[in-house]
Amino acid sequence: MVDLVWRKWFEIGHEVIDFEHKIFFSQIHKLQCLVKESHHKDEIRRVMEEIIKYADFHFTSEENIMIDAAYPGLEAHKSIHRNLMRDLRETISSFDGGSDNAELIVTFLFRWLLEHTINEDLVISKSIKEKHLREFFRAASDQE
Ligand SMILES: [Fe+2]
Repeated sequence: MVDLVWRKWFEIGHEVIDFEHKIFFSQIHKLQCLVKESHHKDEIRRVMEEIIKYADFHFTSEENIMIDAAYPGLEAHKSIHRNLMRDLRETISSFDGGSDNAELIVTFLFRWLLEHTINEDLVISKSIKEKHLREFFRAASDQE
């Protein structure tokens, strides 16, 4: 079973996004504990539903951050989010009640979260930092 430990390198350097990713991570961890300790299918299903709802909220929150930052890759990132939601729903609806299957779903979720974080969300953070850098030097030169 995949080792679910939060590591510093999962962070992208944006306070709100990192905070929400940690909540996401803790939901996946909660799911893993349920799979390991109990085999109550209904409880597992309820947490899976919670994960779908949280993903939807988190993507909206992230899109609002991109809009506020005038992030140039907004539309492309939104379409990635739509595909991610589709993959998430498909995978969760494939849950057959078995613990082996649930473990595979836990591994999928963890990888699904991390791959998007490192491949796409990190770019948002970099773009926002570059914007801050430009503003910082513009403000400094205005004072001269
Ligand atoms: Fe994202």
